[in-house]
Amino acid sequence: MSSQIFSSLQPAPDDPILGLNELFKKDARAEKVNLGVGVFLNEEGKLPLMQAVAEAERRLLERGAPHGYVPMSGIPSYCSAIQKLVFGADSEAVLSGRICTIQSLGGTGALRLGSVFAREVLGLTKAVVSDPTWGNHITLFKHAGLDVAKYPYYDKATGLVAFDAMKAALKGLDTGTVVLLHACCHNPTGVDLTHEQWKEVLEIIRERDLFPFLDIAYQGFGDGLDEDAFAPRMLAEAGIAFMVASSCSKNFGLYGERTGGLHVVTPNAGEAAVVQSIIKSIVRAEYSNPATHGAAAVSEILNDPELKAAWVDEVTGMRSRIHQMRTLLTAEGEKLGVDLSFAARQAGMFSFTGLNADQMIALREKFGVYGVNNGRICVAGLSTKNVEYVAKALAAVR
Ligand code: LMR
Repeated sequence: MSSQIFSSLQPAPDDPILGLNELFKKDARAEKVNLGVGVFLNEEGKLPLMQAVAEAERRLLERGAPHGYVPMSGIPSYCSAIQKLVFGADSEAVLSGRICTIQSLGGTGALRLGSVFAREVLGLTKAVVSDPTWGNHITLFKHAGLDVAKYPYYDKATGLVAFDAMKAALKGLDTGTVVLLHACCHNPTGVDLTHEQWKEVLEIIRERDLFPFLDIAYQGFGDGLDEDAFAPRMLAEAGIAFMVASSCSKNFGLYGERTGGLHVVTPNAGEAAVVQSIIKSIVRAEYSNPATHGAAAVSEILNDPELKAAWVDEVTGMRSRIHQMRTLLTAEGEKLGVDLSFAARQAGMFSFTGLNADQMIALREKFGVYGVNNGRICVAGLSTKNVEYVAKALAAVR
């Protein structure tokens, strides 16, 4: 091949979220604040190593197991533990074995496996995502060959879910459309469906025979580990076919270990086994088999009642810190006479500030406060030390 083969290529644009980290690192200002990528930071602005994870890792190291291949579907004790975490240990769907759970490379890897399965195996061609959504959903679905459209979700005027418009859009979808739904802690808006609204969505899913794909990346950061899993549990109980992409990046602080799971909920254990065998073949073609470390640590935690209880406490502490930051940012706004009450109203790691791209760029350039250009900030990057500064910066660019 000629050495000219690469010469006409243009560099790809930076990722709108992950690219911010590079910019942030280069910024020399002492007062800079990283509210870009969705990472939980502690009061000192540091990414903490969770104690339960440290203890699990200590045990794994002590055991000194060799580094063999993991089954293509993942570590079985991990898969069954995260299945129970998402659907509940006493769920009929779990107990009857009709959910197929495959270990994945984080939540993104689960979305990848699920979308390839939907497109290539089930033959589905259309997908819809909320407007707005996590930017990578669209890229990822398109990459799997799905046609991607948006359904209305966020009403800028009210700061609430544009529920009537959302329902109307879902009612107009073709049968078999893959519908990406955020199970909790909607990314980027922090605005979730109520239980009543979920029930109405379920009715439309049934009526139109749609194929839901739930993304649950922030379980435990909204109202609680069980509370945040309302949607997958309700759909499982309803007996419909759907998929869930779950992640241990945030609630176990295992970002770099790429630890997640794809759950396919089927009508019976026989079909779950068939689906599992097919997804294993997708795994084989994509990356052969998953990595061990993160899943082994999660399995160690979730399968030991004492360690699990310690982890639940830590997640509760993280959630409380997020709630506290939301309350503080709103209060700082009140002091300045600026309405930042969106922070207290929304849930999870992210908030939608209502700022436009120019204002977000000004926030970054003038104040060193890094958020995503769509107006999203990661409230888990706030601390009692920087919240006043951030509130003033938000007020100044409005
Ligand atoms: C985010 O939305 O910031 C996280 O999900 C990290 C990512 O990969 O974009």
